[in-house]
Amino acid sequence: MQRLVIEGERRLSGEITVHGAKNSALPLLAACVLSRGETSLHNCPKLSDVYAACRILSRLGCKCERNGGSVTVNTDGLTHFDVPDELMREMRSSIVFLGAILGRLGKCRLSFPGGCELGPRPIDMHIAALRQMGASIREEHGTLDCDVGRGLRGAKIALSFPSVGATENIILAAATAKGQTVIHNAAREPEICDLARFLNKCGAKISGFGETTVVIDGVERLHGCEYEVCPDRIVAATYLSAAAITGGELTLLGARACDIETVIPVFEQMGCTVCLYDSKIYISARRGLKAVKTIRTMPYPGFPTDAQAVVMAALTKARGTSIIIENIFSNRFRHVDELVRMGADIKTEGKVAVVDGVKRLSGACVKACDLRGGAALVVAGLGAEGITEVGDIKYIDRGYESIETAFSSVGGIIKRV
Ligand code: EPU
Repeated sequence: MQRLVIEGERRLSGEITVHGAKNSALPLLAACVLSRGETSLHNCPKLSDVYAACRILSRLGCKCERNGGSVTVNTDGLTHFDVPDELMREMRSSIVFLGAILGRLGKCRLSFPGGCELGPRPIDMHIAALRQMGASIREEHGTLDCDVGRGLRGAKIALSFPSVGATENIILAAATAKGQTVIHNAAREPEICDLARFLNKCGAKISGFGETTVVIDGVERLHGCEYEVCPDRIVAATYLSAAAITGGELTLLGARACDIETVIPVFEQMGCTVCLYDSKIYISARRGLKAVKTIRTMPYPGFPTDAQAVVMAALTKARGTSIIIENIFSNRFRHVDELVRMGADIKTEGKVAVVDGVKRLSGACVKACDLRGGAALVVAGLGAEGITEVGDIKYIDRGYESIETAFSSVGGIIKRV
């Protein structure tokens, strides 16, 4: 089994490129199912979850080829409408294939999705919305059997929570449905905007994305296009956290500051200098870190739950007490026990974590329990005295393109063994 071995306390310095966003690339790959002909996605990250999405596309009968940073999908041979259980279990976002396959083929069979264990991750909102749009969905023996009879039709859908995945599934299903779909209380994440922009480039009529009400006017059919995946805002937050904990100075190339407007002030409160440019972010953490007031994870544009773990890692060495409240997932503090092994002083109760800054972290053998929690251990390892070994790094590979190469390029001592 592979692990990352990190020799900590090296000040990171230099330029580091932020790769394309996993959580954008995955729904875009699913969206390819809707378009006839060929689509090329550029800046498509080389991640295990992206490879899993390509395997699903191949299983459906599409041709899926990678050429450098681009993935080209040709849907001419698309005939299958079922996704086998082992592919569904590989990642949570396999569920967005549901809306896309239903939109294209009118029927779909798949099982419940897998993904990181962050607490219960129901798909009730996805299913209720698709039923409202005319899909008949039977749940039996862990399989979802879906059929749209004479076709999907537009509907007014009010989400009880702005779920990212449910918003994506509805947009995908509605793009070629009959009539207009209106989503109230839609998720507003940058990845939703990326999906809507991509579909519009393929001929869809979607407006209001990025706001709480999204309107989709169904069109007859979609065509292929070329599209560039947006930069990964959580990878950017991870690099900022690594700069902060090592007292370093980094320039994040290809980063989009507007996507992390609630994250950047946290680093400023910690005492870092952050400068924003068109498509880069500069951070300097030459002074010691200070604790921050309460961080509450919230749907976008609030502080992202995906950045909670990496920012917590940086705060373990910040002078004073920081409070973090995790409002999105019920089991997203699994990295805490591992950080404590490294000498961090963190107490959790329910959705609250109290982080008392310590002077030093000490390297230890730790295990990634989920993707972002795993990245947090790497960040902590970079800031810890001595050697840290991070195990179960398959989780980290789901969302970070060779994290060891990225950090080595700016002075970190980190290798995969
Ligand atoms: N929820 C329901 N019912 C539903 C759908 C969601 O109760 O039908 C609840 C979930 O249980 C959770 C909350 O709503 O408590 C938020 O879930 P959401 O649907 O918004 O999340 P998701 O679509 O499953 C995406 C990202 C996650 C990210 C969340 C929140 C992808 C592939 N995943 O998940 O990313 O944490 O939105 O921003 O886009 C990650 O990248 O590490 C990751 C977990």
